[in-house]
Amino acid sequence: MSVNPSTNFALESGKLICQTSGLTKPYRINILSPEHLDDVIRVQQQVLGTLEKPSSYYPGAHQIFEESLSGRGLIVGCYVEDSLIGFRSIWYPQNHSSNLGIDLGLNSAKSLEEVAQLERTCVLPEFRGNRLQITMMQYMIDHAKRNNSFRYLLATVAPTNYASMQDKFVHNMLIFDLKKKYADHYRYIFFQDLFKPIDVATESVSPIIFVDAEDIEAQCNILHNDGAYVGYMQKKNEENIMQVGYVQVNRPLF
Ligand SMILES: CC(C)(COP(=O)(O)OP(=O)(O)OC[C@H]1O[C@@H](n2cnc3c(N)ncnc32)[C@H](O)[C@@H]1OP(=O)(O)O)[C@@H](O)C(=O)NCCC(=O)NCCS
Repeated sequence: MSVNPSTNFALESGKLICQTSGLTKPYRINILSPEHLDDVIRVQQQVLGTLEKPSSYYPGAHQIFEESLSGRGLIVGCYVEDSLIGFRSIWYPQNHSSNLGIDLGLNSAKSLEEVAQLERTCVLPEFRGNRLQITMMQYMIDHAKRNNSFRYLLATVAPTNYASMQDKFVHNMLIFDLKKKYADHYRYIFFQDLFKPIDVATESVSPIIFVDAEDIEAQCNILHNDGAYVGYMQKKNEENIMQVGYVQVNRPLF
């Protein structure tokens, strides 16, 4: 796969490690445009073919990628030797039925238009371990914040997709729900209020409750009880089991 990413300036460049060869390689991150749609789809296809748990990634729809590439969102791509090796997308769903603001309980057209939805990230397996998802996330947030139109930053993540959870926690996003979404698979719904960010460090009013990330029922019980509990961190316990930390915050979430 060879593309010409030189049509715009690199947002950043640097060096990363290729897991298969152990070699350091130069990379750059560019904003993608509609002509890159086929490359985005190709990287997604390659990643789909390597998933250990196919239910952990629900492929992005072509139409949504197209919209993100055409201005109703943004896709950035990471290039190594002029090949796209990873991408990340954000989409502004407006009145689309997939608007995650509906899960948040938003019901006016105005508030649904304030939703910025983190969509898909794919990194080819040989280039993982370089925190590219986390790196590319900053460009998504900057884009969403740029014109002050978007208040609600939302994303779904499959429980046990620890890299994707880490990506959200690093950027101060919080779990506010866990429910069945795509094709009946459970997903965390992460959010953050870009206008009045919830700061767990100063606004939590309860001790932390740690729950095994694989224990869906216990997490649903916490999140579905009254009382504004949010998931805000993950850690491994003494038995090396991944757990999510939940706290109660002292204000309505939205
Ligand atoms: C999700 C994905 C994009 C992440 O790739 P990446 O940016 O290379 O991620 P990294 O391997 O660098 O890991 C990033 C962070 O997650 C953590 N992480 C990764 N795998 C982990 C695991 N199994 N357990 C615990 N933490 C894990 C890493 O420790 C790292 O955090 P740290 O630097 O603070 O330690 C990539 O795995 C992928 O393409 N997966 C398939 C598609 C997918 O699931 N996309 C996301 C949903 S849209």
